[in-house]
Amino acid sequence: MDLMLDTLGSLERTHTCGELRKENVGNDVVLMGWVAKKRDFGPLTFIDLRDRDGVTQVVLNEKTSPDAHAKAKDIRGEFVLGIKGTVVEREGTHNARLATGDIEVHATELLIFNTAKVPPFELEKAGSQNLASEDLRLKYRYMDLRRPQLQHNIRMRAKAVRAIREYFDGRGFIEIETPILLKSTPEGARDFVVPSRIHTGKFFALPQSPQILKQITMISGFDKYFQIARCFRDEDLRADRQPEFTQLDMEMSFVNREQVYREMEGMFNHVMKLIGVEFPAEWPRMTHSEAMRRYGSDKPDLRFAMELIDLSAELKDTDFAPFADVLAKGGEIKCIVVKGRSDYSRKQTDELQEYVKRYGAGALAWIKVADDALTSSLAKVLGEEKVAELASVAGAEKGDAILIVAGRRSVVAAALGALRLEVARREDLIDRTAYKPLIVTEFPMFEHDEESDSYVAAHHPFTSPMDEDVELFKTAVNDPSQHHLLGQVRAKAYDVVINGYECAGGSIRIHQKEIQDLNFKALGMTPEKARERFGFFLDALEYGTPPHGGFAAGIERTCMILCGTENIRDVMAFPKTASAQDLMMDSPGEVDDSQLKELGISIG
Ligand code: AMO
Repeated sequence: MDLMLDTLGSLERTHTCGELRKENVGNDVVLMGWVAKKRDFGPLTFIDLRDRDGVTQVVLNEKTSPDAHAKAKDIRGEFVLGIKGTVVEREGTHNARLATGDIEVHATELLIFNTAKVPPFELEKAGSQNLASEDLRLKYRYMDLRRPQLQHNIRMRAKAVRAIREYFDGRGFIEIETPILLKSTPEGARDFVVPSRIHTGKFFALPQSPQILKQITMISGFDKYFQIARCFRDEDLRADRQPEFTQLDMEMSFVNREQVYREMEGMFNHVMKLIGVEFPAEWPRMTHSEAMRRYGSDKPDLRFAMELIDLSAELKDTDFAPFADVLAKGGEIKCIVVKGRSDYSRKQTDELQEYVKRYGAGALAWIKVADDALTSSLAKVLGEEKVAELASVAGAEKGDAILIVAGRRSVVAAALGALRLEVARREDLIDRTAYKPLIVTEFPMFEHDEESDSYVAAHHPFTSPMDEDVELFKTAVNDPSQHHLLGQVRAKAYDVVINGYECAGGSIRIHQKEIQDLNFKALGMTPEKARERFGFFLDALEYGTPPHGGFAAGIERTCMILCGTENIRDVMAFPKTASAQDLMMDSPGEVDDSQLKELGISIG
């Protein structure tokens, strides 16, 4: 197509494409944007002109503006236009779907600033089910970002970040930037490393979080710090994880946990106002052990009930070998009750069994409380009387189904916790208009790594033990025969959970070198190794470290809540795929041999 393209010249836009209303009827206006849709009706051509703020219908009339009408002939979707014209009230059908639906602009002049190739996918198809494949949309991200939904999400993210800055600024926090070229930081993922050209053979590591540096700002006397910080973690990706993400990171001195909770509540309450959600000034709190017991998860979704119920006591004398075995080994037998699903078919319970097996459960037993009788996969082995007793302990009513898992505590929690969510999804039990915040407290200080039979930091190695558990902690570290007690030490660590998403995490830190040394020892780090990795920090701890603590909130996770999406890529302008690639830029990519040579690196 050989089109003469126009230049902008001195033309100035008077309104956005989302702005014009009835009050503007009669105004002469200039609009600029992209062609969302064109309909050609002979003497009349209609163009839906789109910019970031909305869509306006433009009419080109052969009679009144023949030049503009003729020029519109070759226009296609996504061409970039400017139009001059007059605002006119729409005759007959007002378009209720458009904010500008009361009016249209009758163009007197049409400028074509640019053409566009046929888009690789249709932008305008409504509804997420009809979208083109995500890979295609990521390759042409600049096109995908033109969709109103993504425009909305990215702008919501900008508002959220601004609200966060507003909040902390108003509370006397100081924004401090920390470097991206750093040294390994301890958040438990693999580092992304950057080779140094000047110091051949040496590497920077990108920060997994600014953890150590924010603590150092406290040692430096800044008292209240915050930062919108980029973090990099080379870890397995999930629907709510990216290798590169952003945190609101904050730290404060001379505070206890409650004071940090108040800031977490204050910040989230301020941000949630963006979508008109009013959280209570003080949120519910739940200890980690209670969350695991009641929901099988450290991030319970409180938008629905269906809590886990313990049947172990009722089965303590059972001679059914699999259950007796589990209990003898300190395991548990727990269940959930699914309201009104005594009509589960064999196929459905089989599917749910396959589901829990993914979480390590051996099997899924069931009881169905039908109107006339109880049926159960356990009837033969436990007897009908016991099955009825279990149903009554579970609190099941006529019409309900009970789903039961037996095994190690961690397996029962993981399997039933996940099953609870899966059943809620299948049965549509989640109120999508509800927002349920929670602070989960007293996380364990350590997690046991079965493969290496060692303990790793559940949060990070600078987290303080609970005052009540300090003696237990010391004994467990100093007496090798008591090492297993590490699993019982609780930490002053906490998470913010909203609707089942971990939106933030933090802790009160260790501020005394003696405890920090002990913690490295607990984690199996020799003093030499600790010095090699964190020597500068251990030194800093000895120069007057105030008691301090803080938290970090995932900006993306928070925006997922604000935008009502379960896909983290929907709230990032340029995200990576689930296999950590950027499909638009085609990265990671190779580098020139000369670059490698300069860095002293050879690829084997
Ligand atoms: P943590 O590792 O819990 O704590 O991270 C804080 C919050 O960041 C978000 N988040 C992520 N979001 C997207 N993709 C990821 N890969 C990802 N990893 C974490 C989550 C999480 O709650 N230094 C500590 C904070 C502190 O102790 O102050 C830290 O980084 O929302």
